[in-house]
Amino acid sequence: MGIIINDKQNRIHLFTENTSYVLEVFEGELLHAYWGSRLELPEAFMVPIENMSSFYPNPNGDNKTYSLDILPREFPDFGRSDYRNPAIRLRLEDGSSITKFHVSSFELSKGKPVVPGLPATYAEDGDLVETLIVELIDDKSSIHAYLYYSIFETYDVITRHVQIVNKSQTNVLVDLAMSASVDFYGDHDFEMIHFNGSWARERELSRVSVSKSTHIIESRRGASSHMQNPLVLLARPSTTDLTGDVYGMNLVYSGNYKAVVEVNSYDSTRYQMGLNDFDFEWQIEPGKSFFTPEVVMTFSNEGFNGMSYNYHRLYQNRLCRGMYRDKERPILINNWEATYFDFDAQKIKDIVDVASDLEMEVFVLDDGWFGKRNSDTTSLGDWYVNKDKLPDGLTGISRYTESKELSFGLWFEPEMVSLESELYKKHPDWCLHTEGHSRSEGRNQLVLDLSREDVQNYIIESLDLILKSHPIKYVKWDMNRNMTEVGSKLLLASNQREVSHRYILGLYRILETITQKYSHILFESCSGGGGRFDPGMLYYMPQTWTSDNTDAHDRISIQYGTSYAYPQITMGAHVSMSPNHQVGREIDLERRTLTAMMANMGYELDLTVLTSHECEQLKNHIRYYKRIRRDIQFGRLYRIHHDEKRTAFMIESEDQKRYYVFYYRGLNRPNITKMTLPLYYLSEGGYQIRKIDIDTVIEDSIPHEDETVYPASYLNKKGYTFDYQKHDFDGQLLVFTKL
Ligand code: DGJ
Repeated sequence: MGIIINDKQNRIHLFTENTSYVLEVFEGELLHAYWGSRLELPEAFMVPIENMSSFYPNPNGDNKTYSLDILPREFPDFGRSDYRNPAIRLRLEDGSSITKFHVSSFELSKGKPVVPGLPATYAEDGDLVETLIVELIDDKSSIHAYLYYSIFETYDVITRHVQIVNKSQTNVLVDLAMSASVDFYGDHDFEMIHFNGSWARERELSRVSVSKSTHIIESRRGASSHMQNPLVLLARPSTTDLTGDVYGMNLVYSGNYKAVVEVNSYDSTRYQMGLNDFDFEWQIEPGKSFFTPEVVMTFSNEGFNGMSYNYHRLYQNRLCRGMYRDKERPILINNWEATYFDFDAQKIKDIVDVASDLEMEVFVLDDGWFGKRNSDTTSLGDWYVNKDKLPDGLTGISRYTESKELSFGLWFEPEMVSLESELYKKHPDWCLHTEGHSRSEGRNQLVLDLSREDVQNYIIESLDLILKSHPIKYVKWDMNRNMTEVGSKLLLASNQREVSHRYILGLYRILETITQKYSHILFESCSGGGGRFDPGMLYYMPQTWTSDNTDAHDRISIQYGTSYAYPQITMGAHVSMSPNHQVGREIDLERRTLTAMMANMGYELDLTVLTSHECEQLKNHIRYYKRIRRDIQFGRLYRIHHDEKRTAFMIESEDQKRYYVFYYRGLNRPNITKMTLPLYYLSEGGYQIRKIDIDTVIEDSIPHEDETVYPASYLNKKGYTFDYQKHDFDGQLLVFTKL
């Protein structure tokens, strides 16, 4: 019973297990009545239509009691008395942008339709998923808009996207099309939470109070970006990780997007997400459609942890695809920070030899293996092996890796071209550019024009050639600069503002082709670290390189922010060298490992320079992680504490029998008390506690120092007191096992 439409066809109630979302129709307008904790069937008309003074423009001469500027609208169009940010703005043949979209029909369907050409969450047989499609028509222009609402009942998630169909005889221009717009009537008691950053400082959580103005979170860079993640939350001021109401919108898209939070003079809040209208326009020909990307919306009254659980479960089970969706992820060793561009076959073999002794599972050859690439100035686009470095080619190195019982993985940056490359010499027009402007370089490279089908095909064919002829089991798909001089040689002047969206559609076509053809390969996306950590990329590649910043201290806040929407299994987390290459900080191996261990753990350091003691440590760490990784990667993550000095995460195993508490401290301070933290979430029962020394623990049978059984209620309420360690950057792991 996910969707109920009343007899008068003027109220629709969308249910999930714990939430309700209510729409109403008033004089043909689609209104937003409610979104929040689950309601019983609301019988009364819920949107108050208030008498307005005659100073307010009003769209209906026969009923002057309201203005659209006041009503909570679900698909606000432009030009008829609502002065707030619209959800749709067209440019019509007569040059105007004014539309009057009225509700025409409702349709219900089981399951969930695909969003053509775009990534989206999906339903499987037996899922409680239903879709409502509301048809709205602007009579004057003959443009129809279909609002899709898919209800994932057991996930407490509603997804939305819009299809705009041109049923007129002429082209129409879309110059703004949001995927979702929600009006909270007379309610602005919110704070906005967003995740900003830059390279090596991704997804730092910002929380701001919402004033009577428009707040915009967006990307104009051609990628979802390091700067702002397409996740924007509205929460009550009292909401914490542990308790309170929170609303989330997260866009399944990897390019320019915009989120709007607007509070008007009547204390109402408009909350929107969709494609960025900045430098955007889309021409729809007669009979054709335009689809917006999908927004994943969730509400929780159980704090940010409740919200994250909804996102994590959905993304893990109904966004990520392929055989790795449900599989434990292998422990990889990547050579980037070990060698950068400076390697030869012998160096790689030496690393592989140690990795094999340490029982790692995948060796990943990073940047520098192709063309003449000895620095970041050349060869992107020339996807053939550099025989000076690897005389026996990829065949030799991949066979060697396999002979040492590791799978072979390879790095690509397919979306780019170096100015110094054969590809650029041959096809100088294949990059994004605008005639009359010089081409801005980023990391000495240009962005290929993925809006072109010939360029898409070149990328597909180059990758195909390599993937089909080598035993490659893992691919790291990198992308290291943002777009400039956005323009495409093949498009008409009137279509130039479509380029950045066409690029993303082209990218998705390439990703779909390659990942479906090579479904046995584990793909990891990357963008100068975590510059495209978004649900769009996760649809094709079930893990993302979280950040180039692998410092064990900085990484905690990056992984903390990332965990708001994205499950720990999706977060690539590597143990790297100390002093750290990005920040120069020295942190011991145990803490570096504990930082990676709460997520999808791997390695990125020169194994050949480790001492035998360090190798012994690593061996233990790897064996231990393999033993617990099913619990860690598929368990439920709780953020139980975070301030500038300390952070604690807890992961509950799928069977709720083991709880892993990761406790991380920053700089040490003298003369402080030990920290006691309630664990809040242990399921009922008695628990034995084990402090894990990851250097020595491997087997389950390590003796408990303390055989005391603690009741869950005690640990949840009073808490656990962590040891005080007299050094900076302490890390501790405790396992609470239910008896
Ligand atoms: C940026 C990535 O984030 C790094 O991990 C590495 O692959 C480099 N690119 C290689 O150029």
